[in-house]
Amino acid sequence: MRFLITAGPTREPIDPVRYISNRSSGKMGYAIAEAAIEVGHDVVLISGPVNLDPPPAAKLISVSTSDEMFDAVHRHVANRDVLIMCAAVADYKPAKVSKHKIKQRDEKLSLELTPTRDILASLAKQDRQVLVVGFAAETENLQENAQNKLRAKNCDIVVANDVSGSDSGMESEENEVTIFFRSGEIKEISRASKKIIARELVKLFANMRENCLTKKMS
Ligand code: CTP
Repeated sequence: MRFLITAGPTREPIDPVRYISNRSSGKMGYAIAEAAIEVGHDVVLISGPVNLDPPPAAKLISVSTSDEMFDAVHRHVANRDVLIMCAAVADYKPAKVSKHKIKQRDEKLSLELTPTRDILASLAKQDRQVLVVGFAAETENLQENAQNKLRAKNCDIVVANDVSGSDSGMESEENEVTIFFRSGEIKEISRASKKIIARELVKLFANMRENCLTKKMS
């Protein structure tokens, strides 16, 4: 199958030397890319700036801003079977990017932020063949928030993890996830290395995509 996977954070520039970003390490997305390749899937990996070596067999597309990630996803989504939006795309970006380095002054400085374009939501209205998997990083009300995202962004699956502790989710080597399906079904994968979780997720996504195809053909 043909997988399109996004990973890592985005960087939203403030001026030529500063940006807004988040703590995403990219480890989960890269582990999913590796696990997919291990079992013979074709992988395009769209990655924000991370300190990781991409799996050599993946086609790597490096991006920095949410706008670049938006364009890259739209360029590559056609003819893909599974889209996994694991990237922690910034929700806001500076309303204006200063051309010159902002100078230090002895006074308050406010930064006006404007919402970025939501990549998942932008695919919602398309007549699509691709299985769309969203990720939800939550610090509270995990089930309610994840199920709201599933509906609002018209995903087939949302993989949610609690990022309130330091031992799972962002930057960590381990994770534990709850998977929400459009049917209302819920599945849990208990704490394990991101590598183990990634293998489980890849199996699950490939099966789900296979079932969609079989249903459409019959
Ligand atoms: N996402 C996206 N485009 C954005 C922001 C997020 O496609 N501009 C995707 C992420 O890749 C992820 C999902 O939306 O698959 C959920 O991201 P998350 O940050 O948890 O949720 P938000 O919708 O941004 O909501 P909030 O930050 O309020 O929880």
